[in-house]
Amino acid sequence: MEYYQIAVDGPSGSGKSTLAKGVAAKLGILYLDTGAMYRACGLKAMKSGIDTKDQVAVEQMMQDIKIDITHENGEQHVWLDGEDVSKEIRMPGVSVAASDVSAMPFVREAMVSLQRKISEGKNVILDGRDIGSKVFPNAKYKFFLVADAKERAKRRLAELKEKGATDVTFEEVLHDIEYRDQQDATRAASPLVKVEDAIEIDTTSISIEGTLEALLSYIHE
Ligand code: DC
Repeated sequence: MEYYQIAVDGPSGSGKSTLAKGVAAKLGILYLDTGAMYRACGLKAMKSGIDTKDQVAVEQMMQDIKIDITHENGEQHVWLDGEDVSKEIRMPGVSVAASDVSAMPFVREAMVSLQRKISEGKNVILDGRDIGSKVFPNAKYKFFLVADAKERAKRRLAELKEKGATDVTFEEVLHDIEYRDQQDATRAASPLVKVEDAIEIDTTSISIEGTLEALLSYIHE
């Protein structure tokens, strides 16, 4: 039996995870949030007191990192060295650390091989930055989501507040998003790019429900 992959790429806050989750639930396939893996690497660096730009220290750290992904009732859990860090990786600060370490080729190689291993023998939808370009270049469907930076910051702030981060401001979130946009799109190793065969959807002024409908209609066509 042939299995298929669906790639959802785009910058942070473009709606990737909500949409990929929605598509996965509709089609009854596995959803894999690849950003969570880079977040776990970034969190480990922060916890170890490592400078997230220090390639030598991060490479050393990656020697004995253990990242596991499990799914319970459709929710993804991320385990770092035996500890469930699913909540911790969403806290402010971790996103920039994740972006920093994700620019390092040895971090990417380890995570990409884990993503392919988890996807083996399954139909799966993955969201990230390099799914259509690198992880699964032969994915059956490829989507590239974009949205205005201010709108993305607004969404991210609402999400953070919902998760209990009350002291974070709009300006901080916008700064974080602009920093990552720049770094994720200009790094040498698998930068964020829209591949030629991806369908681009601008989610700035359409609702999640509307975008989900659009994705599903492409898939059903
Ligand atoms: O999707 P996210 O915001 O949780 O991702 C956190 C960081 O991880 C993001 O700034 C860049 C990096 N990332 C990546 O380089 N490649 C992926 N496939 C997913 C995330």
